Amino acid sequence: MKKVKHGGNIYEIAEKLGVQKEEIIDFSANINPLGVPNAFKKALIENIDIIENYPDPEYNSLVKAIGKEHQINQNYITVGNGATEVIFSMIASLKPKRSLILAPTFGEYERALMRVGSKVEYFYLKEGNDFCVDDDILKVIDESFDLVILCNPNNPTSQIVEKRRLIKILDHCKKNHVHLMIDEAFIDFVDEPKKETMLSYVEGYNHLYIIKALTKFYALPGLRIGYGITSNRELLEDMNNHKEPWTINSYAAMAGMVLEDESYKKESRQWILAERKAFFDELKKIDQIKVYKPNGNYILFKLLQNKKDMKEALLKKRILIRSCSNYNNLDEVFYRIAIKDQASNTIFIKALKEVLYEG
Ligand SMILES: Cc1ncc(COP(=O)(O)O)c(C=O)c1O
Repeated sequence: MKKVKHGGNIYEIAEKLGVQKEEIIDFSANINPLGVPNAFKKALIENIDIIENYPDPEYNSLVKAIGKEHQINQNYITVGNGATEVIFSMIASLKPKRSLILAPTFGEYERALMRVGSKVEYFYLKEGNDFCVDDDILKVIDESFDLVILCNPNNPTSQIVEKRRLIKILDHCKKNHVHLMIDEAFIDFVDEPKKETMLSYVEGYNHLYIIKALTKFYALPGLRIGYGITSNRELLEDMNNHKEPWTINSYAAMAGMVLEDESYKKESRQWILAERKAFFDELKKIDQIKVYKPNGNYILFKLLQNKKDMKEALLKKRILIRSCSNYNNLDEVFYRIAIKDQASNTIFIKALKEVLYEG
């Protein structure tokens, strides 16, 4: 089982370039540029001493905050050291023999599936359809599958699966006795998160598993905090029985408070709605690339004529982007960039044009 290379490895790049990591503008990790909510940062500093105690093994205050945020039964929630831990432990308990994942998509699903010996099939997203999930997926899913994993919005394409289509897939999976996992790690960044989320279907469909993360929207990738939501109580019990204790540290266990930070949420939404449009509009003007209309806080683009290694070329300008060459169904002409603050986005546009047009 091979390790997947992700974005955000700023340490390796800084060492390679012989610079401090602060000197690099990191467009390779899709994190809210507003940074850690201030009130939470303050609380972390004031509560430094909590590391002298073990965290609550049930993480009650975190679970309570998540339940309140989504108006969901607390018994349906499982928390983990990042969404990644939840994905791995849920898949370990589901034990699927045959699974379907999108191509391209986030690389850790495949690793988690391989770890339990699942056969992995791919639903190849069509470039001609801007890598959107279409109704063809319904023709593919049948009783021979145990698990389907969708990522909404998908990483690295930044495309959402339309809600009416998701509902069809959910019903189709139910009819065929197939579990459906939907990764909503980036859903807080879409235009209308409440409209797009499938959370309200959890109560009525116990073959549905929703994955969420605080890492992206609340800028806490180093703290590691994610959660899963399902009404499949048997599965949750099995996960709980197999889980190592205290995988969430005392600081991460405090993170529920970010969900109540309404001004941070408002400011973040203002940033994403304004910058996504402005950045996309500017990128669209560049005739040497095709840009896929983003729904998340990241953008996929493709080089059209100039096929040079953009990652290497931009690194010379101390800008780090994510090459998509290691994604199944993409290759070295595809790149993913995060949407950052206006100043950084402007620097990026200028640097990209220089590389494309000035050689
Ligand atoms: C779609 C998707 N889900 C989950 C994760 C993992 O999130 P976390 O850092 O919370 O483990 C990532 C990380 O990049 C991701 O892209």
